[in-house]
Parts: sequence; structure tokens; C-alpha cells
Amino acid sequence: MMVPVEKLVDGLRSIPEEEFTCDNVYQFLAENPVKVDTISPYFFWSEKFYTRNLIYKDARFELMAICWERGQVSRVHNHAEQRCWMMVPVGKLRGQNFRAVETDEEKGFCKLVETDQFDLSDCLAAKVELEEPIHQILNLPEFGERAVSLHIYSKPFDTCLCFCRETDTFKEVPLFYTSINGKLCEGITL
Ligand code: SIN
Repeated sequence: MMVPVEKLVDGLRSIPEEEFTCDNVYQFLAENPVKVDTISPYFFWSEKFYTRNLIYKDARFELMAICWERGQVSRVHNHAEQRCWMMVPVGKLRGQNFRAVETDEEKGFCKLVETDQFDLSDCLAAKVELEEPIHQILNLPEFGERAVSLHIYSKPFDTCLCFCRETDTFKEVPLFYTSINGKLCEGITL
């Protein structure tokens, strides 16, 4: 049964701390596909970048809707050692995982190789494996449509490492919200 996003948030909040595990949250998401019309107030679209729209945040987790125009992709990045789950209620997305085969932290050097891929659509749930946390999310042009993904990050984070495949380098970058509670953030032009 599809659930309104408020119910999804309440359900996540009611999971006791010690049970807020990778598998339990994944299972919870798999059993609670979200009703798209309840997240549409959080949709913002930009031709310039994918948008990050905060729906709920507390000290333990944040929930956001990410809106991807056709062909938009994330950077190759990690999640600051935090746990992450996602589902794709609108359209379809490709996840590409990477493994670091050579790293020199002092020089900001990191050579990556592609590992597995996964496609998500129809509210299918996924989790980012902490053992192999570097990945990229892509709304491939051939998917032919916009997509929206819901992401849960625990704990919330506002920087992550981004990796450049051309130069085999990485650096820490700040992350921003496009909107909070359905309102565009100050200074953002779509
Ligand atoms: C992001 O949070 O900006 C990118 C989406 C993801 O890979 O989880």
C-alpha cells in the first residue's frame, strides 16, 4: 500500500535508535512506497543542476527529494561515512558504484574503478553500502524522462568527498539544499 510522506516520516521517527540499522530502514522503505502526490510540493526543477529538497530533518536523519531532469547526473561522491537509503518514486535512475584502488590522502589522489550498477524505479528501495560508499547517480538521457528520488541520510551531513575521474583526484565539497519545507532557499535561482 502506498503511504503519504508524513506517514513515512512518522514511521522512520518511531524506529528505536538501536533498530535504526541499514537492513531495518531498508525493509521499512521497501514496505512503505510513498504516494507521489504527497511529495510533489517538494519538487523543484532546474535545467542547470539537479535539485536537493529537504522534507524533514532531525539529529538522527534527514529526508530529501532530489529532482533530476533528463540527463542530469550527480558527481562521483561518497556520503561522509553516513548511512544512506533511497527510493525512486518517479522515473528511473541508474546507480554506479566505484572502488578506490589507490589512494594518497595527502595528495588528494584516488584512482577508482567501476564496480556494480543498479537501476531503480517504481519506489524500489536501495541502500549505499558502507564498505563501498563511492557512487554516482544518473538519470540517463535514454531513460527519456524526469526522475525524483527520495533519500534518507543518517546522520545528516553537509559536506562530502567528490572524485574527479579525469584527474584521479578528490576533494571535500559543501552540499546545499535547493528548498526546505517546499520553499526555495535564499539565493537559489532555478
Ligand atoms: C546528493 O545527495 O546530492 C546526491 C544523491 C546521492 O547520491 O545520494
